Amino acid sequence: MAMTHETIETKVGWMIVLTVLAVSFGGLAQIVPLFFQKSTTEPVAGLKPYTPLQLTGRDVYVREGCYNCHSQMIRPFRAETERYGHYSVAGEFVYDRPFQWGSKRTGPDLARVGGRYSDEWHRVHLVNPRDVVPESNMPAYTWLAKTTIDASNIEAKMRTLRMLGAPYTDAEIAKAGAELAGKTEEDAVVAYLQNLGTALKNAR
Ligand code: HEC
Repeated sequence: MAMTHETIETKVGWMIVLTVLAVSFGGLAQIVPLFFQKSTTEPVAGLKPYTPLQLTGRDVYVREGCYNCHSQMIRPFRAETERYGHYSVAGEFVYDRPFQWGSKRTGPDLARVGGRYSDEWHRVHLVNPRDVVPESNMPAYTWLAKTTIDASNIEAKMRTLRMLGAPYTDAEIAKAGAELAGKTEEDAVVAYLQNLGTALKNAR
């Protein structure tokens, strides 16, 4: 029996099988090349893996749920690039595991907040956002400045990230613990924020 258009439309089994085939072929043709394209897998020029302090700050950021109100993904639209700067590109996130793109924006996007304010501004803002932005509804994170970093697992974290592709040297890993000594979680979050989006910003 020849497979005519009519057969396909009247035999629901065939319809399902062929639809799935057509959709998966289309999907694969779009998705698979992304795994091999330079522009989506290679770091942008100047991108460095997080320093131990930035990496710790990133973990505090995740722990505190900052992503519930802040995205880190500037879309390629005029309204976004006028406000936040150059749109985000895949190569900026190769050392982000997991990435913090998100879409919830109770607060502004943070993808390029690095260098926008002074460290001091961030410290005041984290302790009480209302002191610098009176209408802010961002929570205060008073405990960060009072909490010293737990550096016990920083080396393991860096070794794991190295397995996943971050080019840390043995020497960098060996001195990571010492770099965190005496630092607070607030120092770490500020270091993390000040680095966000700067690789591309500096490359321009
Ligand atoms: C309940 C929602 C909420 C949460 C959770 C939250 N923020 Fe915010 N954030 C805001 C809002 C709203 C603003 C804009 C007003 C302001 O600057 O305070 C903001 C502003 C900011 C800014 C300034 C951005 C700019 O471009 O002006 C930074 C930096 C920031 N937040 C960092 C953080 C960090 C770090 C955390 C987690 C420790 C966090 N936020 C958690 C709502 C939130």
